[in-house]
Amino acid sequence: MLIAISTLAVLLILVGWKYKNHRTVHIPAMSLAFLIDLGLLLYIELNRHAIATLQKNMSSGADEALLYFHVTVSALMLVLYFVQIGTGIRLAKGREVSRVFHRNAAVGFLACRLLNYITSFFVVSNL
Ligand code: HEM
Repeated sequence: MLIAISTLAVLLILVGWKYKNHRTVHIPAMSLAFLIDLGLLLYIELNRHAIATLQKNMSSGADEALLYFHVTVSALMLVLYFVQIGTGIRLAKGREVSRVFHRNAAVGFLACRLLNYITSFFVVSNL
C-alpha cells in the first residue's frame, strides 16, 4: 500500500516535470506530490512498529548500510522539496533570478526522489 502511494507521488512528479513550463499543471502536480510524500514520511516516522521491525530484521551490514542510505536520500529529498517550494513561489511571483536555482535544484531533487523510490523496495523487503 505504501509503495502504491509512493508510486503515485513519483508519477505526479514526472507529470509536473513534463509540464514544467505549464504553471497550471506544474504547480498543482508538484504541490500534491509534496503533500503525499510529507504524509508518507510522517506516517512511517510515527509508526514505531515498522521501524522496530526493520531494526530487528536487519540481518547484515549491507541491509543496515542500505537503510542509512535510504534515510539520507529521503532527508535530502525533504530539504530539496522546501527549496523547490521557496524558489518556485518566487518564480511564480515573477522573480526570474530564481529560475536557474529552481532548475538546477530540480535535478538534485529528482535524483534523490528516484533513489528513495528504488531503495524503498529493498527496505520494505525487511519489514
Ligand atoms: C520538487 C518539486 C519541483 C520540481 C522538481 C520543479 C522543477 C521545475 C523545473 C525543472 C522547471 C523548469 C525551469 C526552466 O527550465 O526554466 C520549473 C519551472 C517552474 N516551477 Fe517548478 N518544480 C517544483 C516545484 C514547484 C513549486 C512547488 C512551484 C510553485 C509553488 C513551482 C513553480 C515553478 C514555476 C512558476 C516555474 C516556471 C514556469 C514557467 O516557465 O512559466 N515549482 N520547475
